[in-house]
Amino acid sequence: MRIYKAANYKEMSRKAANIISAQVILKPDCVLGLATGSTPIGLYEYLVDWYKKGDLDFSKVQTVNLDEYKGLPRDNDQSYYYFMHDNLFNHINIDPANVHLPDGMEPDAEKECRRYDELIRSLGGVDIQLLGIGHNGHIGFNEPDTVFAKGTHCVKLQESTIQANKRFFASAEEVPQYAYTMGIQTIMSAKKILIMANGAGKAEIIKKAFFGPITPEVPASVLQLHGDVTLVLDNEAASLI
Ligand code: F6R
Repeated sequence: MRIYKAANYKEMSRKAANIISAQVILKPDCVLGLATGSTPIGLYEYLVDWYKKGDLDFSKVQTVNLDEYKGLPRDNDQSYYYFMHDNLFNHINIDPANVHLPDGMEPDAEKECRRYDELIRSLGGVDIQLLGIGHNGHIGFNEPDTVFAKGTHCVKLQESTIQANKRFFASAEEVPQYAYTMGIQTIMSAKKILIMANGAGKAEIIKKAFFGPITPEVPASVLQLHGDVTLVLDNEAASLI
């Protein structure tokens, strides 16, 4: 595991953007596994900036997102489809046919999860998977559990996750209760993992997940078993390691 400690959010974002850029430059038709949330917004800003400067070409890149709320239409500004277009896809030369997220409007969970796993397989797997981490150690929407979930599945969100995400909605009642997410096995199958965290609020979970026991109660702890993990932290998130 490589750990980069950055002075602040901006530096963390730039370091992570450097790593994603290197992937795109070295393999122009790579498969990027992407995440939403507040952590990667600065990274996406750098990618957009470097694309505009002519340093990056996304025309052959494929993307697969980690997760999507179930029941939110794409044009809802809280859907992850909307987030990704707003923060990245609308500003770069990615082919819309190469952008993939779970379809939150597919009511048949089994069908949608199977479709998404097959899609990822058909693309040849994920070259680099970007992750943030929840305060409870969740990655994607894989919440603390007694077992590690395998492939893409439909989850009922934990109360703590609903509370953490309600800042994006008018109230906690409006946060969807279910989501589709890649499973732990899907995430672990990525060739490389890039995980980012910033702020003092993430310090405890970073210590637990990467220096504590490997347990499904801290889903991110499974990443200790992955052969190619890069952790990019700001000083506050790194303060306990
Ligand atoms: C986002 C995702 C989540 C977030 C995590 C951290 O697609 O899957 O696991 O990465 O909840 O969120 P932020 O970055 O908002 O702290």
